[in-house]
Amino acid sequence: MIIIDGKEIASKVKEEISEEVNKIKAKGGKIPHLAAILVGNDGASQTYVNSKVKSCEQVGFKSTLIKFEESISENELIAEIQKLNNSTEIDGYIVQLPLPKHIDEEKVNMTVSPAKDVDGFHPVNVGRMSLGLPAFVSATPAGIMELLIRYNIETSGKHCVVLGRSNIVGRPVSILMSQKGKNANSTVTVCHSGTKNLKEICSSADILIVAIGKPEFVTADMVKTGAVVIDVGIHRIEAPETKSGFKLKGDVKFDEVAEKCSYITPVPGGVGPMTIVSLLKNTLISAKGEVKF
Ligand code: GUN
Repeated sequence: MIIIDGKEIASKVKEEISEEVNKIKAKGGKIPHLAAILVGNDGASQTYVNSKVKSCEQVGFKSTLIKFEESISENELIAEIQKLNNSTEIDGYIVQLPLPKHIDEEKVNMTVSPAKDVDGFHPVNVGRMSLGLPAFVSATPAGIMELLIRYNIETSGKHCVVLGRSNIVGRPVSILMSQKGKNANSTVTVCHSGTKNLKEICSSADILIVAIGKPEFVTADMVKTGAVVIDVGIHRIEAPETKSGFKLKGDVKFDEVAEKCSYITPVPGGVGPMTIVSLLKNTLISAKGEVKF
C-alpha cells in the first residue's frame, strides 16, 4: 500500500510554478497577481486566505488581500468585485466563502468575471469544464486529478465511484474522471444520500473518491482489496489525549482501509495541500492568457 503524499506533490508543483515565474520575470513579462476578498472575521476563512496569500509569496506571485467588514452591503461588495473584473493588474481573484447571511453567494458568484474566476465556481467555467473545453477547474477536483497523474495511477477503463454530489467536489470530479483522455476515461458511478446498496457499489470501485462530509464514514468492508482511495473529507474531532485537544480525520477510516488498498490519501497531507496549488496553477494560466473566453 502506498500513501499518497499530497504535501510532497504540492511542494513539487509549487517549485515548478516558481520556475515559470522566474522565466516570466527574466523576459520582463507580467508577474501573476492573485487577489482574495475576505468579508468579516471568520477564523477558518482568515486562516485559509492567509495561507493562499503566503503560497503566492512562495512562488513569486503578487497577491492582494482585500478585507471588508461583516456589515458590507451586497451592492457594495458587488461594486468591489466589478472593480477587480475591470482591473488590468489582477489576473484572478477569489471571494472567500462563506459570506455573511445578508449577501447572496450565488449573485456574487455570477458577478465574478469567468476570465478571472480562478476558483472555477462560475457556471461558465463549470459548463466549459463539463464540455471538455479549456476552463478554470475548481481547486479540489483539479488537485485530485493531479495526484492521480503524478502517481501514475491507471484510470482508463476503471470503475470510479464518487461518494458525494456537491457542486465543488463530487459532481465536477465525476465529470473529470469520465472524460476522454489518458488520465481519465473511467466508468463513473456517483453515490449520494438517495443511493441504495451503497456498500455494494463502493465495494466494486477500483477508484473510490470520498467527499461525503461525514467523519470516518467509509470502513474496510466497503472497500475492494487493491482499490485506490481518495479521501476529500477533513474534520476536527475532539481528542483530549492530544496537546491541541483535537485530531483531524477524513471521511475514511484510515487505519483499517489502508490495509486493504493499493493507494490511499491521508488526512491531513493528502488532497488538502493540493487545493491551494490548483488555485496557483489557475492564476498562472490566467496571467498567461491560456484560457480564452
Ligand atoms: N471556502 C472554503 N473553500 C473555499 C474555496 O475553495 N474557495 C473559496 N472562495 N472559498 C472557500
